[in-house]
Amino acid sequence: MSPMNSCRLLPAILLLPLASCPSTMQDPIQTVRSGVFGQAPSGEDIHWYELRNSSGMIACVHNWGATLYELHVPSAIGRTADVVLGFDDMDGYLSEDNQYFGCTAGRYANRIAKGRFSIDAKTYQLAINNDPNHLHGGEHGLDKVIWTAAVASPSSVRFSYTSPDGEEGYPGEVSIVVTYTLTDTNALVIEYEAETSAPTHLNLTHHSYFNLSGAGSGTVLDHELQLFASRYTPTDGTLIPTGEMKPIASTPLDFRTLKPLRRGAEALAASAALGIDHNFIIEGTQGAMRTAAYLHDPASRRSMTVNSTEPGLQVYTGNFLSGQTGKSGQVYPQRSAVCLETQHFPDTPNQPNFPTTLLLPGDTYTQHTEYRFAW
Ligand code: BGC
Repeated sequence: MSPMNSCRLLPAILLLPLASCPSTMQDPIQTVRSGVFGQAPSGEDIHWYELRNSSGMIACVHNWGATLYELHVPSAIGRTADVVLGFDDMDGYLSEDNQYFGCTAGRYANRIAKGRFSIDAKTYQLAINNDPNHLHGGEHGLDKVIWTAAVASPSSVRFSYTSPDGEEGYPGEVSIVVTYTLTDTNALVIEYEAETSAPTHLNLTHHSYFNLSGAGSGTVLDHELQLFASRYTPTDGTLIPTGEMKPIASTPLDFRTLKPLRRGAEALAASAALGIDHNFIIEGTQGAMRTAAYLHDPASRRSMTVNSTEPGLQVYTGNFLSGQTGKSGQVYPQRSAVCLETQHFPDTPNQPNFPTTLLLPGDTYTQHTEYRFAW
């Protein structure tokens, strides 16, 4: 990874107006740099936006899939590093190598058994794109559409998308707004809001792959994880929940105290998930902001705390990463990153005991999640 520490090296001429910005600018929103990232298959331009904070963090997002593609975090003992996996260009994002890197996943993040659910006695069949199930919204989920971007404040970018009625088989026209904010207290905050024209199921998540030593710097097996969860939702051989909610005590998933990811990932290497790929039930009340997870990297001494209003957290240790080439020629082997996806439980539309994902006309879906860094 080149140490350029910004979304794009801009031609000097483009940098000039910024460099000469007076400290009392008329329009503070102009402080968010942006430019063209590449082109969507339709030929439409995809734009990048750069958020910076006062302690040197930089977050870069683009409007293909409302995606975070760089996140630069300083270090107390070394250089700033980009801690999320991603690609330099649209070729990467459009390729098979893109396993939902940094995207907004939906309409239903995670799996729905056999891609099927019923609402009011009507059955909906979705794409089977993760045989035999539906995963992350289907063939052309929210990660593969162009979102409308707007700079919302000097520290935030808002992405909007209206998913037409019937898109990917889901009922209702759903209007979604996802706002990324980088705070001066070192949190990347992601806020979601959505409304529907007809009853539907909605489950949104953020799908960054984190490596706190820096993307492309080997596995995350020595990262230490603490989960604020004492139960999980066991799954069958196709990673669909059985409907049970079981204690993690005495299982390889017991991360109630800080321990290396290696302990769980290696113990579960021979399972269908090839490692950790499980939904944990976050303690406390759904809807209230609370801590779901704490991740610490002893090598770089960076840490990340995940706070969320969601009931569940999918911990995924990059078991299906395949050594693809990412940003600046970095290689991403199996377990070279971990996803901490705040969400509702997988397959909720078919699981009467799970907190509902049904969204009705007149109701507003909301989610507030933050990834807070320290170093
Ligand atoms: C899922 C994994 C899946 C991955 C795809 C994760 O959210 O839990 O099972 O393979 O997404 O990138």
